[in-house]
Amino acid sequence: MLQFKKNVLYIEQVKLSDIAKKYGTSTYVYSKNQVINNFENYKKTLCSKDGLICFACKTNSNGGILNLLVKLGAGADTTSGGEIYRCLKAGFNPSKIVYAGVGKTAEEIEYALKSKIFMFNVESFEELDAIDKIASKIKVKAKIAFRINPYVDPDTHSYIVTGKKGTKFGIPYENAVKAYLIAKQKKNIVITGIHSHIGSQILDIGPFKLAAQKIKKVIDAVEKNGIKIEYINCGGGLGIEYEKGQKVLSPKRLMSEIFPIFDKDKKFIFEPGRSIIANAGHLLTKVIYRKVSGGKSFLIVNAGMNDLIRPTLYEAYHEIVPVKKTSAKKVKTDVVGPICESSDFMGKDRMLPVVEQGDFLLVTCAGAYGSAMSSEYNSRPLLAEVLVNGNKSTLIRKRASYSDLLLNEI
Ligand code: LLP
Repeated sequence: MLQFKKNVLYIEQVKLSDIAKKYGTSTYVYSKNQVINNFENYKKTLCSKDGLICFACKTNSNGGILNLLVKLGAGADTTSGGEIYRCLKAGFNPSKIVYAGVGKTAEEIEYALKSKIFMFNVESFEELDAIDKIASKIKVKAKIAFRINPYVDPDTHSYIVTGKKGTKFGIPYENAVKAYLIAKQKKNIVITGIHSHIGSQILDIGPFKLAAQKIKKVIDAVEKNGIKIEYINCGGGLGIEYEKGQKVLSPKRLMSEIFPIFDKDKKFIFEPGRSIIANAGHLLTKVIYRKVSGGKSFLIVNAGMNDLIRPTLYEAYHEIVPVKKTSAKKVKTDVVGPICESSDFMGKDRMLPVVEQGDFLLVTCAGAYGSAMSSEYNSRPLLAEVLVNGNKSTLIRKRASYSDLLLNEI
């Protein structure tokens, strides 16, 4: 939904320079229709099966985005009591909320049970005990899936690998059947499914297939013991095209390879995050100063690692585009933020046309794990967020103020 018209960059039908003038910078800008397209790609592929697309709301938990997904029919994949709270506030039906995470506290479990969420994705034996105990205390039954660690390496950045041996996630593969046998004995536990999420920004079908085949083996062994697995939750993880030409998998390809592995009567859950929201959101920022130092060119912008930490944390690549196309010559440039750390950059060694002080730049595909991972480091107030639909823009989060920085201090 980004395109140049007469050398001016638009998101849908709105000029990005107009967004900058109206809402200030830096600002996260989202395309509503891109979110719809991305979600529909999943939905239409899944429609032949009975199942759920649960948006992984850790990627972006802005209520405006969540509410849009509610209207499209999404469920939610959550990972904390706070996320369940946000999802309920945004209008998700609790019966479409699943809850993963290795460290669910007693308070969070009780909150989830009282909120009547659909299912817990249980990640340890002790967590199973805790859920059973709390469910018994408040006299409810808890539906669960075990998150199984299938020991599959998804070949992605090491910080976002979850399905490999030696990570903290899920029930170790060799204990999977034992976990179900133990759960069968628990009075307040209802075994409903099986879950696996092997990692994020995965570009290859191989690891997804291998994980599914290993999960199928667990299901067969579990069902031989008279335990029925109704739902198979395949997690999230589909990669997106951060760099032009990067080959990515479509939901259709993923599902067409996964479905035949399992028996026909199974219901499916997918938990996409990045592939729903990453390419729908961008970080609009402004050049504050330019400088040349040590033979290098720097553009200093007013977005820092507190606003978008992905380049710093994962050395992630986000394409950076001036919102006005010029024929100015291109220079190798580091685009850096105002934070007092050398790790504060949006992009290094980029061939960018010479721009002026005050020009706007767009750091693209920042809709996932952008705003959601932002902080107030260096006492920088959180950014505004804007949703664009056709030729209309709507503020979905107002820019925080200096006084917001002190909000909870005593
Ligand atoms: N389900 C579970 C249980 C997850 O832990 C995650 C992401 C997802 C689904 C969604 O995965 P996706 O479709 O977005 O790949 N902050 C990192 C990514 C962390 C991923 C955490 N888990 C980044 O910026 O690359």
